[in-house]
Amino acid sequence: GPEAARLVASRVLDVPDFPKPGVLFKDLMPLFADGKVFREVIDGIVAYHGRDTFDVVVGIEARGFVVAAAIAYATGVGVVPVRKAGKLPRPAHSVSYALEYGEATLEVHEDAFTAGHRVLVVDDVLATGGTAEATLDLVERAGGTVSGFTVLLELGFLGGRERLAPRPVHALLTV
Ligand code: PRP
Ligand code: MG
Repeated sequence: GPEAARLVASRVLDVPDFPKPGVLFKDLMPLFADGKVFREVIDGIVAYHGRDTFDVVVGIEARGFVVAAAIAYATGVGVVPVRKAGKLPRPAHSVSYALEYGEATLEVHEDAFTAGHRVLVVDDVLATGGTAEATLDLVERAGGTVSGFTVLLELGFLGGRERLAPRPVHALLTV
């Protein structure tokens, strides 16, 4: 609700020209570092989705891991990491996607999901939606059923939500 949105707004730092000139980076590490705020924000996400709407949480490397593990622990479900290329030890599905310059690849273990399990996919920030779209494709390819995609902060002007449609996207704060 409005309280969670206010907390996110109060703990995001704008970093100009990172990771490259012209990009205004949204850094949520001050939020993660504040125990009271972090707990309230995680509780806000859990309250929005409800406790029995997903069977497992996916976190997207690296910042999504922080949020996903907290939601999983708070709700008593497991957490599955989606990792950058070459990090997973066993057979994995891969999806490559375009970045502003070049390409990135994300992977998930082939046996990561139980058939029919509802998967809540979590990241810190939704920007262009490239990372999220690749992850949702991966989850579906590995046999999971996406119940939703949730972030703390959405950069609405970059169109990520439209790119992911019709899959449900939730953000605590949209700027
Ligand atoms: C950032 C952020 C999201 C992604 C959003 O991750 O944590 O995962 O960008 O951008 P998009 O919607 O345009 O794809 P980054 O790639 O910087 O990696 P990190 O989480 O490992 O720091
Ligand atoms: Mg990330």
